[in-house]
Amino acid sequence: MFKSKIDIKFSDREVPCSADVLLWNYWDGEHLLPVHGGYKSAQLLYQGETFSLCLFKAKPPYLPFSIPTLAFVIQHRQYKQLTYALQIFLLSKTTIDIRPINNQLCAVSVRYQMMLPNIFTCISPLLLNLVPKWFETVFEEDLPLRIRRQRVLNAGFIDYKGMPHWNGNSGNYNYKFKHPLIPSKGSALLDHQYYESYG
Ligand SMILES: [Fe+2]
Repeated sequence: MFKSKIDIKFSDREVPCSADVLLWNYWDGEHLLPVHGGYKSAQLLYQGETFSLCLFKAKPPYLPFSIPTLAFVIQHRQYKQLTYALQIFLLSKTTIDIRPINNQLCAVSVRYQMMLPNIFTCISPLLLNLVPKWFETVFEEDLPLRIRRQRVLNAGFIDYKGMPHWNGNSGNYNYKFKHPLIPSKGSALLDHQYYESYG
């Protein structure tokens, strides 16, 4: 039924934050609506320790409508995330590989693979234009968030109980992202009546 048509990779793009800050950003579902113009709704159906099942509505570039998406997101390895998603009739796999460089810098590679039913292969040219535009847009939208997160860690942020007294050398330079990232109470991400968490 499905035929592989699209395979686009963005390789080794440097990001001015640590690999774990980038991981935090990828798992932080609460930023999707306020930060990304392309997301119209986002809800969790299930939150596992290193995976989640999500329901989105996303409006891709060039299209005048939002597309419902069911997505399964997995932390496959320490710095490798996989997302399998079904967008109406389009089956996709997104692979995110993060390469740590130092505690202020990493690089990310993102690969988008998409399969279409044979009768819809005519939209492949549209997807070949749309996917790079989507990638560049979300990358730019995420950048300030990633930089800001790295800055507060450098200033010593540990938790929300107050910042430590700055003594010139109290940066939290060894931040490690911990799974799972449960959304805060009252978050719209938790609104779905099917929502369950493993914990
Ligand atoms: Fe983002």
